[in-house]
Amino acid sequence: MTSCTFVSTSEQQTDSLGRHIGVLCQAGDVILLSGELGAGKTCLVQGIASGLGVSEYTFSPSFVLVREYRGRLMLYHMDFYRIEAIEEVADLGIEEYLHGDGVCAIEWADRAIALLPDQCLHFELRYVPDIEQSREVRASARGSRYEYLLQRLLTEMKDFARWN
Ligand SMILES: Nc1ncnc2c1ncn2[C@@H]1O[C@H](COP(=O)(O)OP(=O)(O)OP(=O)(O)O)[C@@H](O)[C@H]1O
Ligand SMILES: [Mg+2]
Repeated sequence: MTSCTFVSTSEQQTDSLGRHIGVLCQAGDVILLSGELGAGKTCLVQGIASGLGVSEYTFSPSFVLVREYRGRLMLYHMDFYRIEAIEEVADLGIEEYLHGDGVCAIEWADRAIALLPDQCLHFELRYVPDIEQSREVRASARGSRYEYLLQRLLTEMKDFARWN
């Protein structure tokens, strides 16, 4: 496993980190996101969407488990915050999304971790005490595809990252 921490000091910087990830993504990639409410998971996914060339990212307020966006590749944006039982995710036909032709970005992934692949890129976002606009984004890559992706991301974003 490879891991590192990026430090973002604004919403725009988190978006930009996401955009770099989106540009590097390929079909079948799985990105898991965790962290407290308001930590910036959706902000990172919006960046991923723009990096994938999604021209219109509309966030409907209605509760749905999966939103689909068309870009260079399909983006399947999932949010498991409100699930009450893991069966809801199984019923979604999650396997088809995970092994399909697009990229899956999954918020609150820890709520259905048993159904998700071991090999993935995981981002955990954390508030930085006393610095309102600051977030620590800890990235861990499991599996050679994701280790490669994270190395590439680090090369591009090295000013915002530290190894740990
Ligand atoms: N450095 C930063 N990166 C990302 N968002 C930031 C940052 N600083 C402040 N913010 C603010 O934090 C909020 C992040 O909201 P966002 O919806 O992305 O969080 P979330 O982790 O998806 O929450 P939820 O668990 O409710 O889905 C936004 O209001 C954004 O403006
Ligand atoms: Mg969110």
